[in-house]
Amino acid sequence: MSPVSSIDEIVALYALRGGRTYGEGVTQTEHALQCAMQAEAAGASPHLVIASLLHDIGHLLVDPDDLTVDDRHEQAGARALETLFHPAVSDPVALHVSAKRYLCRTEPTYLSGLSRASRTSLALQGGAFDEAEARAFERLPHWRDAVSLRRFDDMGKRDESANRVFVDYIPLMRELAIAPARGA
Ligand SMILES: [Fe+2]
Repeated sequence: MSPVSSIDEIVALYALRGGRTYGEGVTQTEHALQCAMQAEAAGASPHLVIASLLHDIGHLLVDPDDLTVDDRHEQAGARALETLFHPAVSDPVALHVSAKRYLCRTEPTYLSGLSRASRTSLALQGGAFDEAEARAFERLPHWRDAVSLRRFDDMGKRDESANRVFVDYIPLMRELAIAPARGA
């Protein structure tokens, strides 16, 4: 069973655990807000804005914060979200770690711009894609949105706080939610 079954449960999860840090200088909620705002500033679709907001929800679904183990948070997050939203939300979430591995392969300068935590996790996540893996990635649904999300992710770790709060995104989450989850 999905660990989150409504928009209210997502809001409650961030209220309860969004204050966690994860090796970056910002809390999970702050990171989520900064990523969503980056997506909006780039003119991303509403689905990609919500994917950006919720892309690390998988980190909040697990208790331990052991950064020496890859927790596959992108898979846990996507599984939680796919019952609530269209794949245009859950697919980029599922692929945002692969997008990092893809960009390390396809953009020579990308790796040097990553935060230290992102570089550490890259090794645990399997490192840069090889050529065949990169081409296979380009055949997946919503892979371009996953790459865009990855860039918002990398930019969403700034010290200054976002001028939004998590509940500001409730109306958009409700609007995009698959019918049974919308009103709950
Ligand atoms: Fe992130």
